[in-house]
Amino acid sequence: MVLVAAVARNGVIGDGPRIPWRLPGEQQQFKELTTGHVLLMGRTTYESIGRPLPGRTTVVLTRDPDWTAGEHADVVHVVHHVEEALALAGRLHAEGAGDLVVAGGAQVYRGLAPYADRQVVTEVPLEPAGDVHYPPIDPDEWVETSREHFEHWDRVSYDRR
Ligand SMILES: NC(=O)c1ccc[n+]([C@@H]2O[C@H](COP(=O)([O-])OP(=O)(O)OC[C@H]3O[C@@H](n4cnc5c(N)ncnc54)[C@H](OP(=O)(O)O)[C@@H]3O)[C@@H](O)[C@H]2O)c1
Repeated sequence: MVLVAAVARNGVIGDGPRIPWRLPGEQQQFKELTTGHVLLMGRTTYESIGRPLPGRTTVVLTRDPDWTAGEHADVVHVVHHVEEALALAGRLHAEGAGDLVVAGGAQVYRGLAPYADRQVVTEVPLEPAGDVHYPPIDPDEWVETSREHFEHWDRVSYDRR
């Protein structure tokens, strides 16, 4: 299981419900990293995107027992705690839906990080204002295993030690 995030130099990943930057090609790289897999996201992040992303199986984590994805309810899975998310991801994987990719936001990264094998971080070279931060990557637990340079960012992988 992998956490995938775009993180600014100051640790910011969001401002309110939105991501406070737009970099050319970033959405395309997110698509390449996640297509064919199971995307787990918090209810806030899902509502900020507003729809399931094509080519991926979407799972939304919420504590609200009545929450649904409205017109997309037939294709969006809803889970109510982390263990349920992990169990569903296991079933979906067995059915061929791909690996579990944790797509944020901060609450969901924090809740799933203890179960993750890898973090793939797009290092965004900006210092935007924002009130949502990526959880710190503890060097005692995680080691940088690859770094790729792109025009507008570095993509860094961390594996669990
Ligand atoms: N830069 C990036 O890569 C990136 C990626 C994704 C998101 N973001 C940004 O991150 C921000 C959103 O992050 P956030 O931390 O505010 O919200 P979030 O993690 O997207 O969603 C939080 C919601 O998820 C549900 N939830 C979280 N943990 C849960 C648990 N253990 N059990 C059950 N439900 C749980 C709750 O929903 P209910 O309130 O419905 O119970 C909670 O309010 C936005 O700014 C977004 O744009 C950035």
